[in-house]
Amino acid sequence: VIPLSLQRRVESLLQEHLDRLQLSSGSVKDNSNVSKSIDQVEDLNTEENPDSFPDRSVMEKVLQRKSLRMRNMQRAWQESPEGRRMLDFRKSLPSFKEKERLLQAIAHNQVIVISGETGCGKTTQLPQYILESEIESGRGAFCSIICTQPRRISAMSVSERVSAERGEPLGETVGYKVRLEGMKGKNTHLLFCTSGILLRRLLSDRNLDGITHVFVDEIHERGMNEDFLLIVLKDLLPRRRDLRLILMSATLNAELFSKFYGGAPTIHIPGFTYPVREHYLEDVLEMTGYKLTSFNQIDDYGQEKLWKTQKQLVPRKKKNQITTLVEDALNNSSFGNYSSRACDSLACWVPDSIGFNLIEAILCHICRKERPGAVLVFMTGWEDISCLRDQLKAHPLLGDPNRVLVLTCHGSMATSEQKLIFERPLANIRKIVLATNMAEASITINDVVFVVDCGKAKETTYDALNNTPCLLPSWISQASARQRRGRAGRVQPGECYHLYPKCVYEAFAEYQLPELLRTPLNSLCLQIKSLQVGSIGEFLSAALQPPEPLAVQNAIDFLKMIGALDERENLTNLGKYLSMLPVDPKLGKMLVMGAIFRCFDPVLTVVSGLSVRDPFLLPQDKKDLAGTAKSRFSAKDYSDHMALVRAYEGWKDAEREGSAYEYCWRNFLSAQTLQAIHSLRKQFSFILRDTGLLDADAGANNRLSNNQSLVRAIICCGLFPGIASVVHRETSMSFKTMDDGQVLLYANSVNARYQSIPYPWLIFGEKVKVNTVFIRDSTGVSDSIMILFGGALCHGVQVISFVDIFLLDQTI
Ligand code: CDP
Ligand code: MG
Repeated sequence: VIPLSLQRRVESLLQEHLDRLQLSSGSVKDNSNVSKSIDQVEDLNTEENPDSFPDRSVMEKVLQRKSLRMRNMQRAWQESPEGRRMLDFRKSLPSFKEKERLLQAIAHNQVIVISGETGCGKTTQLPQYILESEIESGRGAFCSIICTQPRRISAMSVSERVSAERGEPLGETVGYKVRLEGMKGKNTHLLFCTSGILLRRLLSDRNLDGITHVFVDEIHERGMNEDFLLIVLKDLLPRRRDLRLILMSATLNAELFSKFYGGAPTIHIPGFTYPVREHYLEDVLEMTGYKLTSFNQIDDYGQEKLWKTQKQLVPRKKKNQITTLVEDALNNSSFGNYSSRACDSLACWVPDSIGFNLIEAILCHICRKERPGAVLVFMTGWEDISCLRDQLKAHPLLGDPNRVLVLTCHGSMATSEQKLIFERPLANIRKIVLATNMAEASITINDVVFVVDCGKAKETTYDALNNTPCLLPSWISQASARQRRGRAGRVQPGECYHLYPKCVYEAFAEYQLPELLRTPLNSLCLQIKSLQVGSIGEFLSAALQPPEPLAVQNAIDFLKMIGALDERENLTNLGKYLSMLPVDPKLGKMLVMGAIFRCFDPVLTVVSGLSVRDPFLLPQDKKDLAGTAKSRFSAKDYSDHMALVRAYEGWKDAEREGSAYEYCWRNFLSAQTLQAIHSLRKQFSFILRDTGLLDADAGANNRLSNNQSLVRAIICCGLFPGIASVVHRETSMSFKTMDDGQVLLYANSVNARYQSIPYPWLIFGEKVKVNTVFIRDSTGVSDSIMILFGGALCHGVQVISFVDIFLLDQTI
């Protein structure tokens, strides 16, 4: 009989590790050194060590000499022919006219807010103006500028552009840093990073010592990290009177931000774009030969029915039927007056198979009939993009590599792929970029003349009342639609094809709701706790638009439930570890438990897979084959997560034998995703080793990796409370969650292929609401695992069982 619950055992074990870490890093105060050391692991080329300077005056001299060198190099470049050419280009950007005004404003105010249309030169130019003027005045080595971006890819592409404009390799004066990746060195004085990176830095360096200027970019998007940064920085400004904060936005609603900072001055950069002609669905249907009739019948279908009908229809093969459905839906329409419910029904088909055919048709129209110029297609997410790409490959015109180049642009693409997007293709080849809303504001593809806008974006919405996060494709805002349209008029007059009727556009919200108000606050609250700024609720009430108290309470309850906070809302040892890991707290917990319970390797694969995306491909026309291929990896485990582990391991083996390509092809796996999982695995184990939780000996960390039940238990430990009960009836089986009632499994889940499942519970990581709630990857677990590993490891209930004895004594 063990007198301690699992939770307390884990907590005391983590305490030992924390003590050891703090001893080895020479601090006994808090965990800040740990975060710092993690940061250094991430800093791939950091060599700088300020402690190595013996005293201030020596350091001052070193920096002065360095500043002179920087000035000489800058002047030499600016006077070179290439440098001059670059300067000429830069001078043509609208922001250049405002340069002096900006520098003056920044010199005289601690905070300023700048707005200006996308492409006017905010991101690449403004931080550079400051850098150049500091270098020119001989203070180059003393300045340190940080500019945050909401997305990895923009931080990377912008830093590369700015170093090119300065005639330097990336990682010299200009560098970047995103989660688990970076290029910066001891000479870096302008750093582009994601907002998340700056937040993590604030955890260990509350005063941002040594930083002179902070730019927070794309604040109009109202991302959660940006909103969070704005509060933290507001708190910091009085302590760092010399620090300058510059907020940048692509829209004109700068007043809101200015007010937040006590009336900070605002500057608008007047921009120039060419006119863009707009076409709505009505026109698009006509151009593409679809016949337009009425919309009234859509109400007769009802949402449910329309959805089902669609699911049964396979694109291309049954094009006629689809055309009929569109015709039915739009039959004899006077577009002006259908109900919002009809709009919702319409929403069902836009990004789905019929939407694909429409996109295909309009792309054909552009390629055949329109003038040269690249096409940018806005879609909802990676899945839609890859499905459409596959569909286009089979098309006689769009799939012909001599005439059309189809590229994709989304948050998790490989760096090599990113570069292609910005390059101009050979003459006579039409470049088509399939993108998520990432291409809306933060990256600029110069040669775009045509924009196809499906009107939707995948957006996490959060229902605080039911405490369910949902990732749903939903209608974009009018501001987004305008922004998308604007992408077509950068180099010459453009065309924008909206795949929705004008009246739907008029029903869009004016602006999108800030992310802080539509996502669960779990990670955020954990970070606030580790910033040690007092009560979470109070801290968040200072936000630009504070979240509902209920949403905050849900997050706190969640963190308590998983054991990251104790009853008095203080960080537990587990919580301290979770706040150090750059992943969702649930996945972080899985990693920590995988390390403690010595089954690290498979757990690492699961966590990396869940943080990248599903490597199992699901081509529209081969869904069944793909499903069968996936189920071969499941081996009666009743687990998508274990299937992922097997698929990954098989891929590693195949790679060793040189047959990785064939392996992926045969098993419907994405080699690119597996590669991404592979590198994320490396990064995570690096960090975990650094936190002291892993043994240097890989064998020791994996002593129990072959114990399937244990791995299953650790998955359960991480994904709780995502649980559905398995309900068996005589001939059928269904699944229920507490919040949503009956839920369905994704067609590609291995568990969707069984008649019955010998487990009472399915544990899952993500659910998606599309009329009905679907759960994605799931793993069957038993009652005993649920009791032992669900929640805060039993909510402090003293579990005394032989399983407990077995697991603890065998593993810890
Ligand atoms: O931030 P904002 O949208 O105002 O503009 P920016 O990203 O600073 O871009 C200014 C200009 O630099 C763009 O209009 C492009 O012409 C050019 N640029 C580029 O050529 N390559 C990049 N990777 C980024 C920008
Ligand atoms: Mg920008």
